[in-house]
Amino acid sequence: MVTIHALEERILKEGRVLPGEVLKVGSFLNQQIDTALLTDMGNEIARLFADSGVTKILTIESSGIAIAVAAGCAMHVPVVYAKKHASSNMSSDVYTSNVFSYTHQKTYKIAVAKDYMTADDTVLIVDDFLAMGNAINGLIEIIGEAGAKLAGAAIEIEKGFQGGGDALRAKGIRVESLAIIDSMSDTSLTFREQ
Ligand code: G4P
Repeated sequence: MVTIHALEERILKEGRVLPGEVLKVGSFLNQQIDTALLTDMGNEIARLFADSGVTKILTIESSGIAIAVAAGCAMHVPVVYAKKHASSNMSSDVYTSNVFSYTHQKTYKIAVAKDYMTADDTVLIVDDFLAMGNAINGLIEIIGEAGAKLAGAAIEIEKGFQGGGDALRAKGIRVESLAIIDSMSDTSLTFREQ
């Protein structure tokens, strides 16, 4: 619980609300990363999912990778990230899904090499932001293609007012967000009690 409050305090102190309902947290979470806070958050995710039998963590490049690796280190499991761009060194044998980004108003394809996820895996999705939930749904689709088990999703900051997290919870998926913002504007920001 200490972590959650530390994150909320940091958001209140350094977060900036930009047009388009975007929260800028580049000073500690995105472009510059506070590694002590990151380690605490990784440990908190490990604590929350300690009994879920997680064998692998799945995220999307690029800004989800930091927290995914922190959680992976704490849980002693490998981290796989879905690629958004085809690259020459990537296997052509991939699971894919199309994701519509509300923030960027465009659809992109994500891909995970089949070698890195199998039906024996129990997968925890980890990401930095959860807004409409489209990215998480794309990852869930890939986990389904692999025949793997979904343990749930762990998120640093959920924008609760965009509804993606609650829609996933309504489907019975376990979603744990270290901070949930229920409203935000230039002048005020409120967190959900949890
Ligand atoms: P959704 O998956 O929940 O539907 O969200 P959406 O498509 O709208 O988000 C797409 C991208 O925008 C993601 O990064 C996500 O991390 C980021 N994002 C969404 N809301 C915010 C916000 O309020 N603040 C910040 N800083 N980022 C936000 P991405 O475009 O995939 O790029 P990358 O940064 O991971 O490379």
